[in-house]
Amino acid sequence: MVNTLGLGVGLTLTLVVVVFHFSKGTAWQPREDVSDEVLEHRAATVPETAFPEPMNRSIGGGAASGGAAIAGETEAEGELAEGEAAEATDDPSAIPDDEADAYEVEFVKEGDTIDVKENTTLLEAGEDEGWDLPYACREGQCISCGGRITNGNAEEYVEHHTNQMLGEEELSDGYTLTCVAYPTADLSLETGESP
Ligand code: FES
Repeated sequence: MVNTLGLGVGLTLTLVVVVFHFSKGTAWQPREDVSDEVLEHRAATVPETAFPEPMNRSIGGGAASGGAAIAGETEAEGELAEGEAAEATDDPSAIPDDEADAYEVEFVKEGDTIDVKENTTLLEAGEDEGWDLPYACREGQCISCGGRITNGNAEEYVEHHTNQMLGEEELSDGYTLTCVAYPTADLSLETGESP
């Protein structure tokens, strides 16, 4: 005996499933990217401050002030580049070889006097002669390359590009860090001397 009620319910459910299966429905549409809107809104409503705020203004600057911020950065980079250029010109090693003046440097212990250009350190010049001169960091941060200028105050005879070791008194006694010392006058040097 066929249960007509059960059969009817079964057919109805099957039909519902089939209809859902083939129906297209309404596809979900993501919202547009609103970040520009948010930035513009913030730019229009949040007043700019004259001082830099850490972290939280990376968005708040918005379109208009964001542009200003970028312009500011470019300006700052420009200044930095200028600063670097200035620093580069402060570096005696940046002086072109054909423009560099040379000075007579007497290496007392080595028993020789050589011409050393103002863009060359005393240490490099000595090494170019084949002398085995002491050094370690080559950056003015230790005293291994120390030498003594016998003429007088070291600052009157060399320019130390960096000097993190010698104080005024030691410099005035003639001590120099040969790895960062560029000659600015004729001088006599005793290598392997430190205060
Ligand atoms: S080698 Fe270190 S200061 Fe010259």
